[in-house]
Amino acid sequence: MNLPKHATIIEVGPRDGLQNDKSLVPTDVKIEFIHALKASGINEIELTSFVSPKWVPQMKDAKEIVAAVQDSSRNIVLAPNRKGVDMALESNCMAVAVFVGVSDTFNKKNINKTTSESLLELQPVIKELKDKDIFVRACISTSFYCPYEGKMNVEDVVNLCSSFVEYGVDELSVADTIGMANPKESYELFSRLKEEFPDTLVTAHFHDTRGMALANVFAALQAGISRFDTSAGGLGGCPFAKGATGNVATEDVVFMLHQMGIETGIDLEGIKKAVDIIRPHISRHIESKYDRLVQASQ
Ligand code: HMG
Ligand code: MG
Repeated sequence: MNLPKHATIIEVGPRDGLQNDKSLVPTDVKIEFIHALKASGINEIELTSFVSPKWVPQMKDAKEIVAAVQDSSRNIVLAPNRKGVDMALESNCMAVAVFVGVSDTFNKKNINKTTSESLLELQPVIKELKDKDIFVRACISTSFYCPYEGKMNVEDVVNLCSSFVEYGVDELSVADTIGMANPKESYELFSRLKEEFPDTLVTAHFHDTRGMALANVFAALQAGISRFDTSAGGLGGCPFAKGATGNVATEDVVFMLHQMGIETGIDLEGIKKAVDIIRPHISRHIESKYDRLVQASQ
């Protein structure tokens, strides 16, 4: 079995986890949540997004969040366009994630541009970020299925990733936006991406709509992936992707990896504490698989 000794978790709970929740979470609670996640050993985290507050009201406190939690770990902020990147720079962010969909229809609904319009806008922006030595991550949405266009073509995914690699990004976070991929598709796509982009960090981002996310993590591990985007409590979903449910839960992935002898440097009880902070403030019921197991053994 092809398994790494260590895997890296990129916690996306404060961003992907909260962006789609109906209840506006108070800023101080978000900050407490982020501090608790960091205290559990998380070193890479998506804090928030610089996006239009009219489109995503939950992220309107991005500036305050960034100011409150800056430290030397990799604190990532999302920015879809020039304006978002400028706001990230004004806030002294050292890691920026741009995001583009393989599907034109999805990209239009998510950021009001076609995929190629987004690429055109982002190319010089990424160069500028790299000139300032900022870590750049490209989130590739709808890499398997699109809620509007159906199954995506693997060559389109590879071509989009290839453009970002040419522009100089450090990381590709390749997403199953609506949680429709199966482990065979995950294995095949991630094997191909590892082969095509040996010098770029490749990360897997799974949503768990149909309960296949953990199996997809395992399939991606087999393909040589050792970086996973996960969300504490399994929160998450994109407001502009019909049918997108939560990300695979951090505690479930960490538990599975630890059981298989793969180190993450993360303390599971610490993640549980972070989930307890956010639980009373969100409209969704949180029930991670790890939680179930802990309750059953009490
Ligand atoms: P637009 O309406 O086309 O923008 O929206 P515009 O350029 O015409 O500007 C309209 C207004 O928005 C102006 O303000 C701009 O200043 C402002 P006004 O004059 O009306 O007061 N504006 C901004 N404000 C803050 N931050 C910005 C920004 N840009 C313009 N960056 C826009 C275009 C991209 C802004 C909009 O579509 C948007 O905010 N979309 C956000 C989409 C989003 O956050 N989606 C969720 C994250 S992606 C995701 O979840 C997928 C991922 O998890 C991977 C996966 O699972 O697939 C990453
Ligand atoms: Mg997502």
